[in-house]
Order: sequence, then structure tokens, then C-alpha cells
Amino acid sequence: MRVLVTGGAGFVGSHLVEGLLAAGHDVAALDNFATGRRENLPSGAHLYQVDIRDADAVTAVLGDWRPEVVYHLAAQSAVRVSIERPDFDADVNVVGALRLLAACLATGVRRMVYTSTGGALYGEPMALPADELCPVFPLAPYGLSKHTFERYLDMATTGELERVILRPANIYGPRQDPHGEAGVVAIFAERMLRGEPVRIFGSGDQQRDFVYVGDVVEAALLASSSHLTGAYNIGTGRLTSVNELFSALAVATGYDRAPQYTPAIPGEVFRISLDASKAERELGWAPVTPLDGGLGLTVEAFRNAME
Ligand SMILES: NC(=O)c1ccc[n+]([C@@H]2O[C@H](COP(=O)([O-])OP(=O)(O)OC[C@H]3O[C@@H](n4cnc5c(N)ncnc54)[C@H](O)[C@@H]3O)[C@@H](O)[C@H]2O)c1
Repeated sequence: MRVLVTGGAGFVGSHLVEGLLAAGHDVAALDNFATGRRENLPSGAHLYQVDIRDADAVTAVLGDWRPEVVYHLAAQSAVRVSIERPDFDADVNVVGALRLLAACLATGVRRMVYTSTGGALYGEPMALPADELCPVFPLAPYGLSKHTFERYLDMATTGELERVILRPANIYGPRQDPHGEAGVVAIFAERMLRGEPVRIFGSGDQQRDFVYVGDVVEAALLASSSHLTGAYNIGTGRLTSVNELFSALAVATGYDRAPQYTPAIPGEVFRISLDASKAERELGWAPVTPLDGGLGLTVEAFRNAME
């Protein structure tokens, strides 16, 4: 297949590009390097340095590459930025995505696989793990903008474009940007390896569903090889507190300092885990990487990158 990955120079996008190349596909990445990095991109992938908000440029890319499948991952992906600059967040995550969608419809793309969010979509559900029928109640503009494009995607695709929406939990793994706003695993791992102080926002009792990036890539590959449509949670269903994560990473990195506790961040979800049984039933997907194994791979990659 010829495929295009928007956000292909980012954390998750670059792993997806790698997975697609390994599966023998012709892969192009589209990225404006807002947070992504050129060195993340594996050789073998074609690169278009373009902003998804630039309608003419995006249409030109699609006309030139003619992908069968577009994986849309380019995003303003930081919860805190979305709170400080909701207009910018919506500009990229809604308006930019709509321009990409218009270009996909105009150039006859067969399928779009949109990476939404599961971790920032359902707010604080009454019952966990949350399935796809759980009411959508984002606590920050980021979750709202990601969900808004899901709704546009539902409305705009009348037969021509197949589309599937992935709603991943908290993704972690090698190449996650520890300097960004998101990615507690990357931030802790890098600071611990450097022997620097590690801050925990709030009590550390907040719980998340951490899913390994390789498992998310597998879900994206399965999503493009079927003709299914709809939204799929991608998570492990397991809750891990930030304090537990700190302890596990301290063991993996040999860190012996205590964390520094600082005030909680407004807009952050306190407890979320995802029920991915729909993805298991319909896509044949299940997470295979246990948290300690995934953390080990992540720490090893960070250690190698720092040498
Ligand atoms: N990391 C997670 O825990 C997580 C969880 C759920 C969903 N997601 C979603 O997965 C996707 C990838 O997230 P990530 O963690 O890899 O983030 P990331 O910031 O590493 O990747 C986003 C990529 O999009 C690019 N980009 C941003 N604005 C752009 C624009 N206007 N035009 C073109 N490219 C642009 C960035 O340069 C970057 O390469 C995002 O859509 C995010 O919402 C991430």
C-alpha cells in the first residue's frame, strides 16, 4: 500500500512509520516539526515538510503521493498548551484536521485512520475501565478538540472514505519527548538517568492506563487492514498510579532520590483506564507488552540515546 502518516516525525508517528516500512508499504510522512524531529524518521520514508493547516500544500501532497490510506496523527498534543492556548489547539486539531480531510475526500483516499485520544476523552468516568459507550466529557480543550474532529469525520464520510478512530490511553516508549508537556514516563526516565530531581504533580495517587507504543502501532496496522469503521479504545484496562510508575522507573534506572511533590495540574484527569474489548473482538487487537517490559525497553532506549 501507499500510505501517508501525518505527524510522522513525532513520537507515535515515527514508530508507526517504522512499522509500516517493516510491513513493506510505501510510506510518506507529513510533518511541520512543531514538536517532531527529523531524526525520528526512519530512512526509507518520504518526507513532506508541510503544515496540515495549509490547505493548498496538503492537497498538493496528497495529489503527489496518492496514498490509499492516511493515518492522521499530527496534532497539538499537550493538555497544558490546550488550556493556555485553546484557539491554537483548535486551529491545529480541528481546523487543520478538517483541511486534511477535505484534501483526502478530494483526492480519493480510501481510508483514514485517525488517532484521537481515550485518556483525555471520558473525563472521570463513574465506572472503569471505560468502554466506547462511556459519555464523552473532556476536562481540557485538548480532549474536546480531538473529539470534535471525530464527530466531523463521522459526518463528512458518506460512503467514499472509510474511517476508523483509535482512542489510545497514555502511550509511552522510546523517542517520546521528555522536553514536551506530555509523557510522564519519558520525563521521569530522562531525569532519573541524569540523576536530576523528579517532580510529581499532585499526590501521585492519580492513576493512568499506560500502553506501550509498539502495541498502539499494531492497533493502527490492524485498523488499516480491515474495512471496519467506528471508534476503538486502545488500552490495557490496568490502572497504575504515578507513584507506582515513579517506583518502577526508579528501580529500572537505579535512581535513589525521593520525588518532589508540587501542586496538581488543572484539567488533568485523576483516574482513567480503558476497556479495549471492542478492539479485541473486532480488530483482533490486544496489548502484549507488560508495563515492566515496556518500561525496561524505554529506559534502555533513553540510556542509549544519552550515551
Ligand atoms: N502520546 C500519547 O500518550 C497519546 C495518547 C493518545 C493519543 N495521542 C495522539 O497521538 C498522536 C501523536 O501523539 P504524539 O504523542 O506522538 O505527539 P507528538 O507531539 O510527538 O507528535 C505530533 C506530531 O505532529 C506534528 N505536528 C503538530 N502540528 C502540526 C501541523 N500543524 N502540521 C503538521 N504536523 C504537525 C508534530 O511536529 C509532531 O511530529 C496525536 O494525535 C495525539 O493526540 C497521543
